[in-house]
Amino acid sequence: MLKLDLSNATPFLPEDWLTSRLDALEQARTMLAEHNGPGGEFTGWVRLPVEYDREEFARIQAAARKIRSDSQVLVVIGIGGSYLGARAVIELLGSADHKLAPNAPEIFFAGNGLSTDALADLMDYVADKDFSINVISKSGTTTEPAVAFRIFKALLEEKYGKDGARGRIYATTDAHKGALKGLADAEGYEEFVVPDAVGGRYSVLTAVGLLPIAAAGIDIEDLMAGAAGAMETLSWPGADNIAWQYAAARNALCAAGKSIELLVGYEPSFRFFAEWWKQLYGESEGKEGKGLFPASVEFTADLHSMGQYIQQGQRILLETVVRFAKSRREVLIPHDPDNVDGLNFLSGKPLQFVAEQALRGTLLAHVDGGVPNLVLEAQGRDAKTAGELIYFFEYACGLSGYLLGVNPFDQPGVEAYKKNMFALLGKPGYEDQRSALEKRLNG
Ligand code: PA5
Repeated sequence: MLKLDLSNATPFLPEDWLTSRLDALEQARTMLAEHNGPGGEFTGWVRLPVEYDREEFARIQAAARKIRSDSQVLVVIGIGGSYLGARAVIELLGSADHKLAPNAPEIFFAGNGLSTDALADLMDYVADKDFSINVISKSGTTTEPAVAFRIFKALLEEKYGKDGARGRIYATTDAHKGALKGLADAEGYEEFVVPDAVGGRYSVLTAVGLLPIAAAGIDIEDLMAGAAGAMETLSWPGADNIAWQYAAARNALCAAGKSIELLVGYEPSFRFFAEWWKQLYGESEGKEGKGLFPASVEFTADLHSMGQYIQQGQRILLETVVRFAKSRREVLIPHDPDNVDGLNFLSGKPLQFVAEQALRGTLLAHVDGGVPNLVLEAQGRDAKTAGELIYFFEYACGLSGYLLGVNPFDQPGVEAYKKNMFALLGKPGYEDQRSALEKRLNG
C-alpha cells in the first residue's frame, strides 16, 4: 500500500493541523460513505472497486480481446473525464508507444481538442491500418468527441462498410439517454455504461477507463484489486489514515497562504497521471473562489526550467511528490578510462541511485526554499499500484473538497465556454447570444 511522508511539510504547518480537522474529516468520511453530502448523487465511485457490474466487466475483457485480435490501432475518442483516466494509466504502465503486451494495439486518443492538424495526422496514420473506435461520452453531446467520432466513423465505414464498421465501434455512454446512446442503439454498436452516480473525473474505474486500458494489454483485475485494497484501508477513520492526512495537510497549507500545489513526478510516463490528477482536483475544488491551483512538473527535466521559480519565486507553492520505490529495470553507469567528464565516482552505480539522490537533494533544497513537500511513496509501476494511486487521490479529493466547504462533484464553471462556442458556431437557439458576442469580439 502507499505511504505518505509528511516530515517535510510539517515544519510549515501549525501544530494542530490534523487534530483541528479530525471532526470535519469524520463528517466528510460519513458523507462519502452515506452519499448524503453535497453532490452525494455523484459518489457512486466510493465503493466502485468492489461494487461494479461483473457482467459488464467480463464484456469489457471480451471486447478488449477482440480489439487486440483484429486491430492494430484503437482510437479512443473522449475528452476530460472521458479521456484522461485511460491515458493516465496506459502511459503510466506503458512505454512511449503505448504497447504494453504482444498483440496489443497502439492506443491513440482523439476528440480531446479541436486541432485540425492533430486529427488529420491521426487520420493519415490509421488509413492503412486495421483499427477500431471506442467513443466515450457520458452526455453524448460534447462537441469535441462528437466531431471526431463523425470523422473516424466515416473513415471506418469507408474501409469496412457499414456492417464491418459496426463490429469495430464500442460506445461508452449513459445507460438511458443522450445522442450517443440513441446512435449506438440505432446502429447496434456494443455499448458500455458510464454509471449515473459517477462523474467524468471519477470514472476511470468504470468502462470509461477500463475498456481502453484492457485493450492496451493491462490487467484490469489487478487494477481493480489495487483500488479495492486502497478503498478498504482508507475507509477506516482516524488520524493515521493517509487520505485524511493528505486532505488535512493541503487544507492547512492553503489556509496558511499556499495557493498552488505541484504534483511532482520523476517518471516521464507519469505525465498523464498528473494531467488526470489536475482535472480531479481542479474541477472538484476550484469553485466559489476557493481551492489550491493544481499544477504539475516532471523532474528532473523541469528542475532545469521551473526549478528556479520553485526555489525562489513567490512562496505560494507546495509540492506533492509521487515516488516509485523501484524502477522496473536496471541501468549501470559505465566506467570510462579517460574520465573526461569526471563521473567515474559513479562508475558501476545504478542510474536509479542517481535519480534517488536527485530526489532527496531536490526535496531538501525546496524545503529550504520555503516549499513544503509531501511525499507519496508507491511501489512499482504496475496495475495494482495504479489502482491504489487512483483510489487514494479520488478519495482524498472527496474529503478535501468537503473540508474546503465546496461540492466536489459538480463543475458549473465548464459551461461558460461551451455556451459561447455554441453561440459563435451558430447553433440554433443561441442567436441572441451570438450577436452580443460578435459585437464584443469585433469591437
Ligand atoms: O469531469 C467531467 O464531468 C468532464 O470533464 C467531462 O468528463 C467532459 O466534459 C466530457 O463529458 P462527456 O463525457 O459528457 O462527453
